[in-house]
Amino acid sequence: MAPTRARPTPPLLLALVAVVIPGPGSAQVSIHPKEAFLPRGASMQVNCSSSCSENLSLGLETQWPKVELDHGHNWKLFELSDIGDDSKPLCFENCGPIQSSASATIVLYSFPERVELDRLPTWQPVGKNLTLRCLVDGGTPRSQLSVKLLRGGEVLHQEPVGVDSRNPKEVTVTVLASRDDHGANFSCRTELDLRPQGLALFPNVSVIRQLWTFDLPVTEPKLDTPDLLEVGTVQKVMCSLGGLFPAAEARITLELGGHTLTSKSTNHRDLVSATALVTAEMEGTQQLRCVLELADQILKAERTLSIYNFSAPVLTLSQQEVSEGSQVTVKCEAQGGAQVRLSGAPPGQVQFTLNASSEDHERIFTCSAALRVAGQELLKNQTLKLHVLYGPRLDENDCPGNWTWPEGSQQNLSCQAFGNPPPKLTCSRKTDGALLPIGEVKTVTWAMNGTYVCHAVSSHGNITREVFLKVLPKSPIWPIIIIVVILATVVFVGVLTIYIYNRQRKIRIYKLQRAQEEAMKLKVPPH
Ligand SMILES: *[C@@H]1O[C@H](CO)[C@@H](O)[C@H](O)[C@H]1NC(C)=O
Ligand SMILES: *[C@@H]1O[C@H](CO)[C@@H](O)[C@H](O)[C@H]1NC(C)=O
Ligand SMILES: *[C@@H]1O[C@H](CO)[C@@H](O)[C@H](O)[C@H]1NC(C)=O
Ligand SMILES: *[C@@H]1O[C@H](CO)[C@@H](O)[C@H](O)[C@H]1NC(C)=O
Ligand SMILES: *[C@@H]1O[C@H](CO)[C@@H](O)[C@H](O)[C@H]1NC(C)=O
Ligand SMILES: *[C@@H]1O[C@H](CO)[C@@H](O)[C@H](O)[C@H]1NC(C)=O
Ligand SMILES: *[C@@H]1O[C@H](CO)[C@@H](O)[C@H](O)[C@H]1NC(C)=O
Ligand SMILES: *[C@@H]1O[C@H](CO)[C@@H](O)[C@H](O)[C@H]1NC(C)=O
Ligand SMILES: *[C@@H]1O[C@H](CO)[C@@H](O)[C@H](O)[C@H]1NC(C)=O
Ligand SMILES: *[C@@H]1O[C@H](CO)[C@@H](O)[C@H](O)[C@H]1NC(C)=O
Ligand SMILES: *[C@@H]1O[C@H](CO)[C@@H](O)[C@H](O)[C@H]1NC(C)=O
Ligand SMILES: *[C@@H]1O[C@H](CO)[C@@H](O)[C@H](O)[C@H]1NC(C)=O
Repeated sequence: MAPTRARPTPPLLLALVAVVIPGPGSAQVSIHPKEAFLPRGASMQVNCSSSCSENLSLGLETQWPKVELDHGHNWKLFELSDIGDDSKPLCFENCGPIQSSASATIVLYSFPERVELDRLPTWQPVGKNLTLRCLVDGGTPRSQLSVKLLRGGEVLHQEPVGVDSRNPKEVTVTVLASRDDHGANFSCRTELDLRPQGLALFPNVSVIRQLWTFDLPVTEPKLDTPDLLEVGTVQKVMCSLGGLFPAAEARITLELGGHTLTSKSTNHRDLVSATALVTAEMEGTQQLRCVLELADQILKAERTLSIYNFSAPVLTLSQQEVSEGSQVTVKCEAQGGAQVRLSGAPPGQVQFTLNASSEDHERIFTCSAALRVAGQELLKNQTLKLHVLYGPRLDENDCPGNWTWPEGSQQNLSCQAFGNPPPKLTCSRKTDGALLPIGEVKTVTWAMNGTYVCHAVSSHGNITREVFLKVLPKSPIWPIIIIVVILATVVFVGVLTIYIYNRQRKIRIYKLQRAQEEAMKLKVPPH
C-alpha cells in the first residue's frame, strides 16, 4: 500500500457539506479514536468505519502523511505519521449519493526545544541590579507549561507561560547582587505538567550559569613608600587596599619605571597588600606604580620617587692625638651642592687651626652637610674626637691642701690628679715617707698626723703638692676628772688639816689652863 498524500480539501467546505447534506440516519461514518493526546511528531492509527451498505467510498482527510493499513467491508484503518500540530482529521464517506463525515481531535504535547538562560556578565559588581533573562521556545500545551528562575535550588521567580504568549517566551527577574552571590549557580527551569492527562511532570533545565560578584572601593590603593631614596640603598615599598571582595582574587603589581617589581602579595579578609624591594640605582626620578586588578576593574596609584646621591661629609683632623700646645687643623669637606657646617669653626669657615690645650681633650668636632632634594633637606654628619696629651694636674679642688680632722672620725682621703694619660699618684710623709691610702675611707688615727708630699707622674710630666694633715686629739675628759679629783683631794686635805690644827690648838689651850690651875693649886695651901 503506497502512502497517499492528502488532497487539500478545505475543512470549511467539508464542514459545510456535512451540515448541508447530512448522511442518512442509517448510513453514518464514524472515526476512532475521537480524541488523542500525543507527543509532537508521533504517529497514530485512525479507523474510519461506516454503517453504509451501499456502494461505499471511505476516506480520511488530514494534512499529515497517511497510509492505509488495512480495510474491511465498511472500514479503513489509516496510520497518520509525523503529526506536527493540534489537528482534527476527518473521516468522510460517499454512501451512494450521500456524503457524511466525522472528525477526531488530536491534541499534541511537546517539550520545549530551547530553555536558555542569557549569559551572565563575567563580573557583576556587588550592589548593582542584575537582570536574569530566560527564553523558552516551544513546549505545548502552553497552558500547562510554567517557567522558574532559580539561584541554586531557590526559586527567584515563577510564571505560567500562558496560552497565547509569543514564542519564544521571555521571562526575566532582577536581583540585587551581593557578596553571597559570588559563585552562585543560576538556572532556568520549565515544567510541563501533563499529570491531568495521566502522564507526569516533565522538567527541562537550562545550562547552569555561575555568577562572579565583586566589590571594589572607589578609593585608590595606598602606596607606602618614602619619596626620597638614596643611591645604593634598598627600600621596602608597600601597596594595599581594604574593603574589597573577593580579596583572594585581587592581583596587585608594583612597577618601577615601567618594570614590574618582584612582589609578595598577601590577603587577609578584605584587605590585600603587596610588598616589594626597590633598589635605588641611579640618581634621578622614577615613577612607582601600584596596579590593582580585580574582576574587570583596574585601580592605580602612583608616586614619584627621587633618588639622590649624597655622600657623608668628610671631617679630617691633622692629628687625632696631640700633645698640649700642638697645632691641630680641622677640616670639613662635602660634595658639591651641599651646605657644609663645622662646629667650633668661625662662622662661614669649614677649616681652622687650633692650639691644643687640656680643655680640648675629648672635644668633639661635627661636620655636617645639608642637601636639598625634591624640596626636602637632607642632613648628614661626621664627628671626630680629639685626644690631647697633657701633664698631671693637682689642684686645690681635686686635692685639698689642708685636712683638719678629729681623731677617730671616718674620712675619705680624697686627692685626685688629672692628666692624659692618667697620672699615677702617691702621697708620702715628709718626715718618714709613710704612704697615705688615697681614695679610701679610713678611721683617722693620731699616727696619720703630718705633712705629706703628693706626687703625680705620667709620661707627660710630674707635679708635687704638699698636704697638711692635722689630727685633732680626742676631747680630753680624763684630765678634767683627774683635775676635779685632785682639786677635791686638795680641798679635802686642806679642810682636814685646818680641822686637825684647830683641834690641836684647843687641846693645847686646855692643857695650858690645867697647868695654870695645877700651878694655882700648888700656890694655895691645902685644907
Ligand atoms: C474498525 O472499526 C470497525 C467498526 O467498528 C471494526 O469492525 C473493525 O474491526 C475495525 N478495524 C480495526 C483494525 O480495528
Ligand atoms: C458501485 O459503483 C460502481 C462504480 O464505481 C458500479 O460499477 C456498481 O455498479 C455500483 N454498485 C452499486 C450496488 O451501486
Ligand atoms: C526536555 O526534557 C525532555 C525529557 O524530559 C527531553 O526529551 C528534551 O530533549 C528536553 N528538551 C530540551 C530542550 O532539553
Ligand atoms: C534594583 O531594582 C529594584 C527593582 O527591581 C529597584 O527597586 C532598586 O532600586 C534597584 N537598585 C539599584 C541599585 O539599581
Ligand atoms: C555551582 O556549581 C559548581 C559546579 O558546577 C559548584 O562547584 C559550586 O559549588 C556551585 N555553587 C554553589 C554556590 O553551590
Ligand atoms: C655618587 O656620588 C659620588 C661622588 O659624590 C660618585 O663617586 C659616585 O659614583 C656617585 N654614585 C652614583 C651611583 O651616582
Ligand atoms: C699654645 O698655647 C700655649 C699656652 O697657652 C703657649 O705657650 C704656646 O706658645 C701656644 N703655641 C702657639 C703656637 O701659639
Ligand atoms: C649626625 O647624624 C646622626 C645620624 O646619622 C644623628 O643621629 C645626629 O643627631 C647627627 N648629629 C648632628 C649634630 O647633627
Ligand atoms: C693651711 O692652713 C694654714 C693655716 O692653718 C695656712 O697657713 C696654709 O696656707 C694653708 N695651706 C693651704 C695649702 O691652704
Ligand atoms: C672618696 O673621694 C673620691 C674623690 O673625691 C671619690 O671618688 C670616692 O668615691 C670617695 N670614696 C667614698 C667611699 O666616698
Ligand atoms: C701635726 O701636723 C701638722 C701639720 O701637718 C704639724 O703642724 C703639727 O706639728 C703636727 N703635730 C704633731 C703633734 O706632730
Ligand atoms: C719631674 O719633672 C722634672 C722637670 O720638671 C724632671 O726633672 C724630673 O726628672 C721629673 N721627675 C720624675 C720622677 O719624673
